[in-house]
Amino acid sequence: MRAMVIREHGEIDSITYEPAWPDPVAGAGEVILKVKVCALNYHDLFTLRGMPGIKVPMPIIMGIDTAGEIAELGPEVEDWSVGDRVVIDPIDREKLKLQGEMMDGGLAEYIKVQAHQLIRIPDAVSYEQAAALPVAYGTAYRTMVTIGKVAAGEKVLILGASGGVGTCCVQLAKLAGAFVIAAASTEEKIQKLLDLGADECINYTDQDFMRVIHAGYGKPRALGESGGIDMVINFTGGETWLPSLKCLTRGGRLVTCGATAGYDPKEDIRYIWTFELNIIGANGWTRDDLHALLKLVEDGKLLPSIEETVSLEDTRDAFQLLDERKVFGKIGIVP
Ligand SMILES: NC(=O)c1ccc[n+]([C@@H]2O[C@H](COP(=O)([O-])OP(=O)(O)OC[C@H]3O[C@@H](n4cnc5c(N)ncnc54)[C@H](OP(=O)(O)O)[C@@H]3O)[C@@H](O)[C@H]2O)c1
Repeated sequence: MRAMVIREHGEIDSITYEPAWPDPVAGAGEVILKVKVCALNYHDLFTLRGMPGIKVPMPIIMGIDTAGEIAELGPEVEDWSVGDRVVIDPIDREKLKLQGEMMDGGLAEYIKVQAHQLIRIPDAVSYEQAAALPVAYGTAYRTMVTIGKVAAGEKVLILGASGGVGTCCVQLAKLAGAFVIAAASTEEKIQKLLDLGADECINYTDQDFMRVIHAGYGKPRALGESGGIDMVINFTGGETWLPSLKCLTRGGRLVTCGATAGYDPKEDIRYIWTFELNIIGANGWTRDDLHALLKLVEDGKLLPSIEETVSLEDTRDAFQLLDERKVFGKIGIVP
């Protein structure tokens, strides 16, 4: 089969196109999918470059989020048929391994998965939409809804709102009835975020987002009526961390699920106690989160933002766009 393979960690040119990679073979309880769409995530860039503490078996086919058609059933697989439309839950919850990181992923014509990872795609949901969901939208659901418990009337600031996790956070916060302030780096992304439903946007390339929040919603105060906003979604980390804390009203919450720009930012714990802040982590997704998301898409309440798809051979170009922050929402690879 055709596949994009890495043999060692490195930059984007380490991803090589293999026109005749061995086809996967289904063992007991396993299924082979013909890949229709594999959606990229920022996590794929971390996998490519290597992450401390994670040993990736080489060579490997990356690509975590995959939707496809069942091409072959291994022995002992029940309840599924060749031709079924499915999206995979990329976590093998028995082996506790992530597809595209510890096992071959979807940047190929075919992928082997455990049957228990399969989720049926409803007729009203496309392969592109389904492939956009698990990692980014699943984590956004957990961050915003399951753990973040966003509520109607709350003022929520979302940093990195234009990306995979971000576009879903914007939509879920709007669905919950929150007032959404979305922050992004270009005017083009800002316009798309307004189209997606954001109530207000901040271009943090030329504006200090903390000052914009203070100017619009007041500064937090330890006593009496407090200014500031209720919730910040911050999966960027780095230099955005401290100003994010300073945006929050007394008792406000900062929910994090990542650290694109740095995981060990400067901290100032005085803000945490003075304003009785809640710093909350969210990690990954559950099967229930994914079913809830598919239902929202099926009902037309959530529109996964896949702006662009490219062919398997052009995978490196897609990684480049992701690395240069030029993707709005998700980018998909179509083998
Ligand atoms: N814990 C989990 O289970 C989990 C699951 C999914 C994702 N994550 C993490 O969440 C983060 C976002 O993932 P994603 O897939 O949504 O990424 P993405 O699609 O690339 O979006 C990230 C957005 O963050 C903004 N950004 C700000 N500073 C950046 C920087 N230094 N480098 C790159 N982008 C920057 C960019 O928008 P602007 O250009 O507009 O600023 C970009 O669009 C990543 O750190 C990822 O590892 C964690």
